[in-house]
Amino acid sequence: MEKIIDENKQGNSLVLEQEVTNSRKLYIESYGCQMNFSDSEIVASILAKEGFNTTEKMEEADLVLVNTCSIRDKAEQTVRKRLEKFNAVKRINPKMKVGVLGCMAERLKDKFLEEEKIVDMVVGPDAYKDLPNLVQEIGEGKNAVNVILSKEETYGDVAPVRLNTNGVSAFVSITRGCDNMCTFCVVPFTRGRERSRDPQSILEEVKNLAERGFKEITLLGQNVDSYLWYGGGLKKDYDKASDMQKATAVNFSELLSLVAEAHPKMRIRFSTSNPQDMTLDVIETMAKHKNICKHIHLPVQSGSNRILKEMNRLHTREEYFELIDNIRKILPECSVSQDMIIGFPTETTKDHEDTMDLMEHVKYDFGYMFTYSERPGTLAERKLEDDVPEETKKSRLTEIINLQQKHSAFRTKQNLGKTVEVLIEGNSKKSDAHWMGRTSQNTVTVFPKEQYKIGEFVNVKINECTTATLIGEAIGYSENN
Ligand code: SAH
Ligand code: F3S
Repeated sequence: MEKIIDENKQGNSLVLEQEVTNSRKLYIESYGCQMNFSDSEIVASILAKEGFNTTEKMEEADLVLVNTCSIRDKAEQTVRKRLEKFNAVKRINPKMKVGVLGCMAERLKDKFLEEEKIVDMVVGPDAYKDLPNLVQEIGEGKNAVNVILSKEETYGDVAPVRLNTNGVSAFVSITRGCDNMCTFCVVPFTRGRERSRDPQSILEEVKNLAERGFKEITLLGQNVDSYLWYGGGLKKDYDKASDMQKATAVNFSELLSLVAEAHPKMRIRFSTSNPQDMTLDVIETMAKHKNICKHIHLPVQSGSNRILKEMNRLHTREEYFELIDNIRKILPECSVSQDMIIGFPTETTKDHEDTMDLMEHVKYDFGYMFTYSERPGTLAERKLEDDVPEETKKSRLTEIINLQQKHSAFRTKQNLGKTVEVLIEGNSKKSDAHWMGRTSQNTVTVFPKEQYKIGEFVNVKINECTTATLIGEAIGYSENN
């Protein structure tokens, strides 16, 4: 369910599933969005070829990597705190080398080496294929930096090593970068311009996952709806493509159909959709294929037309409502979730009320809500004063979260007495006697284990619920098994 993993949480330490016989040990932590977790699997794959085994114990690692997030200041602070911890470990194990990957690496570049003395290596999101060289350099006692952004790199030819896997669900990246330039967002600067991955390599990755018993994939991109494969190159250069390239281009709804038809038993999710780019075709394709999960993460950020404009979100609240109405009409059982930014510069009480009003109209199933955090280099930072007082941001955020909780409770309650199909992912957090899985709508469901196993599709009758969780009992296997 989680798109953005709370940066306050400890980063997950990751374990390589296939042991490679060699002596060097890699410890890797990831923060931020799903794309970062997916990228860490690419990094592990590239370094496995160099003979690195992953370890869960930082103390025994030769190389410690942290895949970082820059989306909010707090995310960056979390990483800086972790570097202090790494420093303490390095005192015990002086041979240990430390590398910073991801969005903070791209944003700070070689400044990182000055600001954080513990760091030996800084590698941006498009430079992971250079890791073998960079690791060799730091092995020779030098510092190493590669933060070059690419027009082509999609890592389409790297088979990710599945880290920390439950063997049931996996991420498959389909685009990299973003061209949208929302004024608050650092991603276009840290991940570069948008490129799409060859559908053939996506299909191969999914096939490989299916053969290994995976049952659910999430197609990942900053803005999946603008996926467009025309033979390679940046999305913004599509106009220059040849007639032949245009005639054979593949868009997101076509990619969804390709994947859904090739693997009718595989559950397919995708994240993230952008309201301005989501087309009716995508909604209709979702309706056509039972295996495409009925959940759309559709961040809106604000319910005020004035703020949406300041954010350079290229749609109005009325257009957003139209999209929601179409989703409700074509996919009545579909869940919808949101991201909201509270306290964007110049946000008034009236703008805030518009956001609450929009939420009341949509009644989202769940959402991720944060106060605005000014990011260096973004248009908002350069043009607008961060003028909403911190206390106002906090009190508005509390109101928004409370309203979302009310709506989440409303949505989960609609399932009482119904039977839902659940894919079992693992133990319930609260009880080893219960399984945890998700419905097509992405709602977490728990039920007694009985004879069922991880990776099975089970029909569950819902008897109780909390705000975010359904509680029930299995009544048999679903036809998808
Ligand atoms: N399209 C992307 C969005 C990445 S950022 C995706 O695939 O998820 C994820 C969310 O972080 C955004 O939707 C937004 O709600 C939030 N966010 C981005 N920049 C922010 C900022 N400067 N302050 C607060 N929240 C921000
Ligand atoms: Fe950021 Fe907007 Fe792209 S939120 S990732 S610039 S769609």
